[in-house]
Amino acid sequence: MLSLLLTSLGHASTFMPPQASTIAPAVDRLYAFLLIISVLASILVIAGMLYFIFKYRRKSETEKSAYITHNHLAEFLWSFIPLVLFIVAFVWGWKVYHDLRFAPENAYEIFVRGQQWSWEFEYQNGHKSPAELYVPVGRPVKLLMTSSDVIHSFFIPSFRVKQDVLPGRYSSIWFEVKEPGEYQIFCTEYCGLQHSSMLAKVVAVPQKDFDMWVSGKAVSNLSPEEQGHKTYIARNCNSCHSIDGSAVVGPTFKGNFGLTRQFEDGGSAVVDENYLRESILDSQKHIVKGYTKVMPTYEGVLEDKEVEALIAFIKSLKN
Ligand code: CUA
Repeated sequence: MLSLLLTSLGHASTFMPPQASTIAPAVDRLYAFLLIISVLASILVIAGMLYFIFKYRRKSETEKSAYITHNHLAEFLWSFIPLVLFIVAFVWGWKVYHDLRFAPENAYEIFVRGQQWSWEFEYQNGHKSPAELYVPVGRPVKLLMTSSDVIHSFFIPSFRVKQDVLPGRYSSIWFEVKEPGEYQIFCTEYCGLQHSSMLAKVVAVPQKDFDMWVSGKAVSNLSPEEQGHKTYIARNCNSCHSIDGSAVVGPTFKGNFGLTRQFEDGGSAVVDENYLRESILDSQKHIVKGYTKVMPTYEGVLEDKEVEALIAFIKSLKN
């Protein structure tokens, strides 16, 4: 609790993640208030109970307790004190909720799409990034979010913001990051097999670096294979396809290229560029013998250059 108190006062703590957004301290203060009130109330009730059990225990066979119908002072106190506390919690909670709920007018909007089992971000100029949400520091950012399949939930602990992401409608959250840095994003709604690996990162950078990045002018000097490796991680291929030869949910990528694949439906094909492309974009068409139909389709999700990078990466993983 001491650690929580320190956090609520804005100090570093092992109990809570860092307060990286402008709203985090307010959320923590409210949380600390509720926690402290609850702990004090528990102590009071349990201590009172133990005291009365001891004090008014039956001491002799003939002893009888007094008949008490009511006590105005006691009734007033146990009604009035909680009432005041509840009103404080409500007004305070409403204020923080309101601040969390409504983004400032000048907020920069970013579109977020959740899909089993990755996140994708699209910026106002159409630029897209998988798994890394770039945001400018010191400017309100509003996320407009939806899902392509099932219910997900978008959670950034360091910012103290969390919101369900639903198919067929939009939900939103907003935040303003205080310091440049990287912050973890989690999916907090159980959304299927690889829910726990549906992760992403916020990358908060100064406004001018953000402008540079979002305009696509930040030059990438990665080779196609390196770009593919990045995509492999960013698009979460790694949760089902290993690169060390072990079979996970799907076949390993190691030594995959050039193999002849037998399918569940009896057909077969050699793994070449076209086979890989089809397996990624139309993933349910052919199922390799011994595996099941679980891979989501990436048609409309991956950009061509990502598919090409992935193919280059898989080709590079020779035996
Ligand atoms: Cu998406 Cu859990």
